[in-house]
Amino acid sequence: DWAMDNFIDEKVAQIREQVGDNKVILALSGGVDSAVAAALVHKAVGDQLTCVFVDHGLLRKGEPETVDAVFRDTFGIPLVHVNAQERYAELLAGVDDPEQKRRIIGTEFWKVFFEEAQKLDGVTYLAQGTIYPDIIESGARKTGGKASTIKSHHNLIPFPEGVHFDLIEPLDHLFKDEVRELGCELGLPDEVVFRQPFPGPGLAIRIIGDVTPEKLEILKNADAVVREELDAYNARLFEETGERNSAHSCWQYFCVLPDIKSVGVMGDERTYERPVIVRAVESQDAMTADWAKLPYEVLGNISRRIVDEVDGVNRVAYDITPKPPATIEWE
Ligand code: XMP
Repeated sequence: DWAMDNFIDEKVAQIREQVGDNKVILALSGGVDSAVAAALVHKAVGDQLTCVFVDHGLLRKGEPETVDAVFRDTFGIPLVHVNAQERYAELLAGVDDPEQKRRIIGTEFWKVFFEEAQKLDGVTYLAQGTIYPDIIESGARKTGGKASTIKSHHNLIPFPEGVHFDLIEPLDHLFKDEVRELGCELGLPDEVVFRQPFPGPGLAIRIIGDVTPEKLEILKNADAVVREELDAYNARLFEETGERNSAHSCWQYFCVLPDIKSVGVMGDERTYERPVIVRAVESQDAMTADWAKLPYEVLGNISRRIVDEVDGVNRVAYDITPKPPATIEWE
């Protein structure tokens, strides 16, 4: 694509000129925007870029491995993979309020990130995958608009005292579909570029009540089944329609783990285990959404596979509420 090639050439030249011989750091979240920013900045300044991945243990099954595989192994970008799982587990223990979970996760993220940044010598720049809608949303926040209550953004970076980096935000004029196109052009794999929207606080806000390692394990395993089945369902629709988000494609699909148990039966034994709730929605922009009218066969496969394959689950429910009045996430 000629326009995209031009954009890349221009940005690469700009970033090179700005950075000179200095070093750049970037926080990878596992999401599309930071991934595309990393690939672009790497193209411009090569090994002057170091990426930091704070592994809080709240991503989905296989995602931390994908970050390593894509950035360290394929792109050869110097990558610091921080295992912060225990730190997060301790901080989140006993916390059941959703907003408090969000606060803890966000605050800790920057704390861990800056600890790592300060270990690296002579870093001048911080690159970020801020995109155009992020800027609009934080504008809405400043004026007290509705976005402020919907989403807390990480644009305002809480630099620790005495610490400062100059920002590089090469995607700040792009919309999401342009970021995806750029990601493809830069050679990022589809699983990164077309990753479904996923909240920053990750699986912590899909576990109702407090987060424990046992609940995380159950949710990761159940979520993996839902993703496998509905990735395949979406792929079939993509093949039929040629559109990635056609009328009946699922926009987001995942599991929620409520804080209850229920009775079941297995062989001759009574069980008392957890239910999981499957949430799959159709949407264009996440502002409104409808529950996906999935074929019974697909729902049946998901249910059967979850109770067969996931230890600790004996029941599967399907959320049939649109947004509004519900939200896409449960917390
Ligand atoms: P709701 O649940 O409000 O979500 O319908 C709308 C969209 O935003 C995502 N979401 C979040 N994203 N941090 C994020 O980065 C969050 O705390 C957060 N909460 C919800 C949600 O997945 C959906 O795409």
